[in-house]
This record gives sequence, C-alpha cells and structure tokens, in this order.
Amino acid sequence: PSRSLQQSPVDDTSRKALSEIAFAFDIDGVLYQGSRAIPGAKEMLRKIRSHDIRYVFLTNGGGSHEDAKFKSLSKRLGLSEDEDVIRNRVILSHTPMRGWDESVKKQGTVLITGSHPEIARRVANEYGFARAVTPADIIEANDKVYPFDNLRESLHRDKDVPANQLKIDQILVWNDPRDWSLDIQVIHDLLISHRGYLGTISDKNGNAQLPNNGWQQDGQPQLWISNLDLLWKTEYPVNRFGTGAFVEALKGVWAASTGGAELQFSALGKPSRHTYEYAHDRLLHHAPEEPHGKGEEKKPLRRVYMIGDNPESDIRGANEFAPADGTEWVSILVKTGVWKETAAEREPRYKPTVIVDDVVEAIAWAMRNEG
Ligand code: G3P
Ligand code: MG
Repeated sequence: PSRSLQQSPVDDTSRKALSEIAFAFDIDGVLYQGSRAIPGAKEMLRKIRSHDIRYVFLTNGGGSHEDAKFKSLSKRLGLSEDEDVIRNRVILSHTPMRGWDESVKKQGTVLITGSHPEIARRVANEYGFARAVTPADIIEANDKVYPFDNLRESLHRDKDVPANQLKIDQILVWNDPRDWSLDIQVIHDLLISHRGYLGTISDKNGNAQLPNNGWQQDGQPQLWISNLDLLWKTEYPVNRFGTGAFVEALKGVWAASTGGAELQFSALGKPSRHTYEYAHDRLLHHAPEEPHGKGEEKKPLRRVYMIGDNPESDIRGANEFAPADGTEWVSILVKTGVWKETAAEREPRYKPTVIVDDVVEAIAWAMRNEG
C-alpha cells in the first residue's frame, strides 16, 4: 500500500504508554467490506502486535464458532501466520454466552436461530447448552407448524432432536436468519405459549388486568437477541440489512398480532454494556502477545480505542461504557463502513470522539493522542 507504516506514529509512542492502552476492532466495515480487505489494515495490525499492544476483534457478526470467524478474517486479510496468537481475540455477538452460568445452560432447552442451524447447534453445545434445537428440528417433527413449502433441502436439511411436545426455556437469536418467515412464526408461537410448550396458547394473553396486557407473562421463554444492527457493510454499494432488520420485522408482526404490545427481549452484542464488559475483561487479562490467549494476571488499562463503522452499535456502546476501574473507552468512527456523511446527516446520531477515513488513520490518531 502507498501508506507505508515505516514511520508509523506507533513507533514514536513510548512503550509504557503502549502497555496501558488497547484496541477493540470492529470487523465488517473496518477491517474488510465483504471479501475486500481495507488497504493497510493487515500492516497496521502487524505493527500493533509487534509493539505488544493489547487488542480484540469485537464484532456483531455471529452464527459461527470464534475459530471459524478467525479463519475467515485471517484469509481475507492475508494473516496466515501466528494463528493461535490472534484466535482468542475474536469476540462474536454471542460469545459472552460462553460465560453464562453453567448450571442454567445444563437445564432445559434453548431454541437457536441463526444462519446455519447445524453450526449454531454445535456451537451452542460447545458453549455448554446441553440441549439446543433449531427451527429445522421443529418443522421436521411437525410439518404443520409451517403451512408453506420451506427451504427444506437447503436450509433445514440437518436435524437433530425430535421436537414433539417441545418445551423451550430460552430463545437465542444469534445472527441473520435465512428463513425469516419460519423463524418469526416459531418465535411468535413460543411467546404466546403457556410456559414455552410449543403449540399451546396462554390464557393470560391480552388480559388487560395484567402487566403488559398479559403478553409474555406466563413463563414463556426469555428472548435473547445478540445483534441489533439494522445495517452492515459489505462490498455492495448500498448498506445491507442485518439481524436488526429481522428484529424490526419480528416487532412489527408481534405488535400487529397482539394489538400493539411491545416485544420484550434482552439484547447482547454492541452496544450492550454486557458485551463491552466482556471485551474489557478479555483485554485486561490478555498478555500482550505471549502466551497465547487469556493471561491469568490482570493488567490495568488506561485507555481503550474502539474503532468502528456503525454509530448505533460501535460508537454508542463505547461512549456509554464506563468501566468500574476507570479505564476510558474512546470511540473512533471510520468512513469505510455503514456511516456516510450526507447532506441530510452531517453528523452521526451517536457522536464519536473523532471521525477518520479508515482504520489506518484511526490507529495513527490514537497514537498521536497518546503522544
Ligand atoms: O452481521 C455482522 C454485522 O451486523 C456487523 O459486524 O463486525 O461490523 O460488528 P461488525
Ligand atoms: Mg462494522
């Protein structure tokens, strides 16, 4: 690339200052756009690593294993070497569920929706969820659940658990579903059920004497959505709809079918505090470059730079996050992703500390900021 990093400001910043800072890199729209790497990203990353600066990749992408995401990141950026060093730094939208209470994960059944059901189920099992079912399992057990032809051969080929008499305890929406229609139907059915038994209907629904008019008041499964991004950036010139668009569709159908009730759910992923806490903890425990992965010792931080392209998730989350240890999270917005300055929107709704062209400029700015 034309912008060589030989004279990078990274080199001018004192080692002590560098040992107290960290970077959180968003992936889509910051390190690459679809299959296209952002020029200079790879070299900048190398530079950061050679200076033992701590970093994580904090993405709202999901539906796969962290290692698989690392592999695709590494392929797109051409980072073939030192895989183990980078691997444990990938935090997906649902990665914080790894830290959920083990005993809760061992009880009951979760419904997982995501782009590739069989992968999602395997990852859920690896996270410790003892029993995970997908919409494919449900339709296999009773094809009356969905009265239309579905994507049986392509999407719903892999099935596992016979889902008759199914009781679901939690619903985890992990990432962009491919079959919105089936997923909305099944999630709706569970949210109107009696205690999560699929195919039942709660007699509390619509009861004006109860909170929320009785909706979601009868032991229905808790709904977790781990990515609220309405938009994300690929190589296509127009931003693409993300999992957040699915959530808007689900909210709309829920409001229409309940006479205006608001969908109750919990969120994970950026901008949720839980996700930033998880990333912060990961950064505190990371040995700079060796040994691989999580260090045992906690090393304090002074400042973390979140480099993102989406004001609603990356920037908002970093701005609102104030960890108890007093570390400052600084938000840097790049122009290679979701956000573009337009005549109508000169400034993003959630204002970053600074707006720069791309990830290379972002790191240069951070280094100047460190003096
Ligand atoms: O599905 C991925 C997308 O919503 C955002 O990914 O890396 O920009 O947080 P990222
Ligand atoms: Mg992004």
